[in-house]
Amino acid sequence: MRTLTLPALLLLALPAAAQTQTQTLAQGRAVAQTWCANCHDIGGTTPRSTNDAAPSFPTIAQRNPEAATLRTWLSQRHKDRMPDYNLSRAEVDGVVAYIFSLRR
Ligand code: HEC
Repeated sequence: MRTLTLPALLLLALPAAAQTQTQTLAQGRAVAQTWCANCHDIGGTTPRSTNDAAPSFPTIAQRNPEAATLRTWLSQRHKDRMPDYNLSRAEVDGVVAYIFSLRR
């Protein structure tokens, strides 16, 4: 360990941070495929929406530039148009990251 300088240790830590980001995105994609694709066009894999009232995820990414707006939406009650999922914080992080990854 004596030969590892602080910059070397920081470099070792970088892939770990990148991995977390990738995992967040993967979890978000899984949540979207499981819970959201019934109504929303979630981009990429499922080309068309099954519910005309539900905006596509790329459209949502386009018109909601703030993560906070999406977080608020996902944590509030939706009455009858969209179910309440009670997503965990990690799931919200993931699905928001996934939606933003679709931004054109
Ligand atoms: C039963 C169908 C249905 C499912 C399943 C569903 N949604 Fe929706 N969602 C809607 C509809 C319909 C709207 C439009 C509601 C409105 O405009 O009042 C909407 C709107 C939204 C919005 C707001 C878009 C905007 O810009 O105003 C977000 C964000 C969203 N959905 C995310 C999700 C996520 C994330 C999931 C999965 C966890 C999900 N939805 C699952 C039907 C659904």
